[in-house]
Amino acid sequence: MENTVLVTGGAGYIGSHIVVELAAAGHAPIVLDNFANSSRAVLPRLEALTGRPVPCIEADVRDAGALRRAFDDHAVASVIHCAGLKAVGESQAQPLAYYDVNVTGALVLLQAMREAGVATIVFSSSATVYGEPERVPVAEDAAIAAHSVYGRTKLIIEEILRDLAHAEPSWRVAILRYFNPAGAHPSGRIGEAPLGRPNNLVPLLCRIAGGEFPELSVFGTDWPTPDGTGVRDYIHVQDLAAGHVAALEHLAEHTGTTTLNLGAGKGYSVREVVSEFERACGRTIPRSFVPRRPGDVACVYADPARANALLGWRATRGLDVICTDAWRWQQGGGRY
Ligand code: NAD
Ligand code: WQD
Repeated sequence: MENTVLVTGGAGYIGSHIVVELAAAGHAPIVLDNFANSSRAVLPRLEALTGRPVPCIEADVRDAGALRRAFDDHAVASVIHCAGLKAVGESQAQPLAYYDVNVTGALVLLQAMREAGVATIVFSSSATVYGEPERVPVAEDAAIAAHSVYGRTKLIIEEILRDLAHAEPSWRVAILRYFNPAGAHPSGRIGEAPLGRPNNLVPLLCRIAGGEFPELSVFGTDWPTPDGTGVRDYIHVQDLAAGHVAALEHLAEHTGTTTLNLGAGKGYSVREVVSEFERACGRTIPRSFVPRRPGDVACVYADPARANALLGWRATRGLDVICTDAWRWQQGGGRY
């Protein structure tokens, strides 16, 4: 049976790919977004890619009345909660904004869900909750210790969700800890469209190769990693989106909280990513080597065994596909 799934933040980078994947799996996605960090222009592209109408509610996730109307107007079976603020540096400068949008937003949403009798939620958490892991690959039972306001908002929301599912056993909660989402839909029609200079490596490489910025500053060559640069687990955004559909299917059979890493399970250094991107775009990425970025860690990659065991999910697209798809999106303009 077709299920209506409300995707908060569904106009954003990850949410838009989730919408496409939901429709492909036979669900009926609805977007709720206030376009704080996205564009309305994504909506017709989502309709073209899914071949169906994609209703969009323009609202703030902290607006209880708007949420109530959304649940009244649509027979929502479950929620995928991606809406939020995500820039680590900005979160340090604007803690109240981050706690308000992320934590208050989650609380208002959960209260509206409870009122509407909707008790299935998939939440966008982050590997940032592990801080600097003691060992890699990092599994879900590793110590959690966020190093930023942004990371703490994710930790707090995780705790709220666990407490709620514990107190009210009808809840079905999946907490998905994303590693480093990257890449774009292979159509080149949707992708990551950061405003200004991107913070993240892959979108920055796109814009450098596209001539918008002169060079990459490699943040540190003295990390305790094989080539001295930071190592991360880059996960194709389509694989990530597929993990949400698989999580919903798991929740249909399970109450309580399921916490899962969504990562590829393999780490790549900055130098390796740059080389792969150069291959994908056929251009040289000018670079300079600068000191470490404050708050960065040496090496993080996932142990994705639990998601594999519980969801039958694994990443199927490698770094080559991530770079090729990101570059295709950039060549189409890289923005909406
Ligand atoms: P994004 O900024 O592209 O998407 C977030 C969406 O939420 C945007 O469309 C934005 O307009 C919307 N939004 C923001 N505040 C809102 C509000 N108050 N009410 C309604 N909508 C609001 O970011 P993304 O990369 O797609 O991230 C999606 C989620 O995944 C976020 O929760 C983020 O913290 C989490 N996450 C992202 C990454 C990453 O590297 N991209 C990694 C781990 C976790
Ligand atoms: C990747 C690697 C950098 C830019 C961040 C958030 C995390 C999560 C994903 C939301 C690192 C290096 C980068 C540059 C560089 N987001 N780099 N020069 O820092 O792993 O994770 O996004 O949850 O919370 O912290 O991703 O893409 O910024 O960096 O050398 O200009 O590239 O040092 O080793 P990060 P990133």
